Amino acid sequence: MNGKKSDNFVIHGDICYSLDQNTLRCVEGGYLVCKDGKSQGVYPSLPDWYMNLPLLDHSDRLILPGLVDLHMHAPQFAFRGLGMDLELLEWLEAYTFPEESKYRNLGYARNAYAAVARDLVNGPNTRVCMYATVHLPATRLLMDMMETTGLVCMVGKVNMDRNNPPYLCESSAALSAEHTHMWLAASAGRYKNVSAILTPRFIPVCSDELMGMLQKLQKEFNVPLQSHLCESRAEVEWVRKLCPNSKNYADAYDSFGLFGGDVPTIMAHCVWPEEDEIALIREKNVYIAHCPQSNANLTSGVAPVRRLLNNDVQIGLGSDVAGGCHTSIFRAMADAIQTSKLRHLLVDRSEAPLSIAEAFYLGTLGGGSFFGNVGSFAAGYEFDAIIIDDTSIYAPFPLTVEERLARVMHFSDDRHIQEKYVRGKCVKC
Ligand code: GUN
Ligand code: FE
Repeated sequence: MNGKKSDNFVIHGDICYSLDQNTLRCVEGGYLVCKDGKSQGVYPSLPDWYMNLPLLDHSDRLILPGLVDLHMHAPQFAFRGLGMDLELLEWLEAYTFPEESKYRNLGYARNAYAAVARDLVNGPNTRVCMYATVHLPATRLLMDMMETTGLVCMVGKVNMDRNNPPYLCESSAALSAEHTHMWLAASAGRYKNVSAILTPRFIPVCSDELMGMLQKLQKEFNVPLQSHLCESRAEVEWVRKLCPNSKNYADAYDSFGLFGGDVPTIMAHCVWPEEDEIALIREKNVYIAHCPQSNANLTSGVAPVRRLLNNDVQIGLGSDVAGGCHTSIFRAMADAIQTSKLRHLLVDRSEAPLSIAEAFYLGTLGGGSFFGNVGSFAAGYEFDAIIIDDTSIYAPFPLTVEERLARVMHFSDDRHIQEKYVRGKCVKC
């Protein structure tokens, strides 16, 4: 039987996955067992009771958990690399808002989102939390298109009803909430792999009235939430002016009941958190999507990842396309290490840089846990896996499996990804 067509199979190869933040387990020539879409664990030699399962022989290939992107903007894929000499708020005005307004045209959206779907299938990510735009039809279309890829995606119709150009701004809080209600009602139970995530863009563009309405919708539909937090200094200052009664940016979300707790929540960036905010993030179990490339590209800064980790904050990685130019979370891992060194050197010597094992953890198990048992090959985890053929990456001397992983993280590309599985199903074969 062909293992790719079966729900139950064994993959043989050089297997690496995180056990926790600091512990990478690599098994050279190991066996990874999939049954009913779940991992049954990794074995140095195949136990007798799995001998009858189809064996996929990927000797000398690297077998890794699928990567998790906790933060990207699907409509921004089209203009990656433009405006990279601007700061965040200028870039939003000059490039992002004009481009996103084009998604009122479904034909434009179909072409642009087809390119996103193609790119994501070819790349190493298996799970993605993404923003669409304010437009209801184009958001539905994006969800339909992502569903066909087999990747597991959370997709958000964006809410924004103030402080943005009239060609993109929703005309009232009531209209924004009404469209969001229609979208949530139509999405519920419609998909196998795709689900809705509430997406107030960020405090500056969402009125108090709208935030109140979104809180009610969150309760009615019991959906998770994603937004932006403490990305740039200018943005934090803007929020301080807009919310004079809030202690800080995180407290502004919390005052509307939209900051974690019972609501699974991702906040992107968190470059400039105050001590109180870190405590609230931890207390409310809010996930931080660390987006190192975007934070550098948009002059936002370098997030204090070590401080957040030391405070037991849940962290995953985000591409933040198009703040970041690359959808691959391998790139985010490498950038997370590089920028953590710059922070260590230039900001605070007491904040140790990230290790390879930590960066790998953030891009797999760290972000994966937002989706449940995802991001590892420990028994019981959902079977998301990528098979990497790194034989063309030149080395005139023998490399350990860990060393091969480090090189793949730093400079492999989509051509090295031979196969990709999500919940036990092959989505790139
Ligand atoms: N803050 C609000 N909207 C955005 C966006 O589209 N990208 C980034 N990087 N930050 C934002
Ligand atoms: Fe973003």
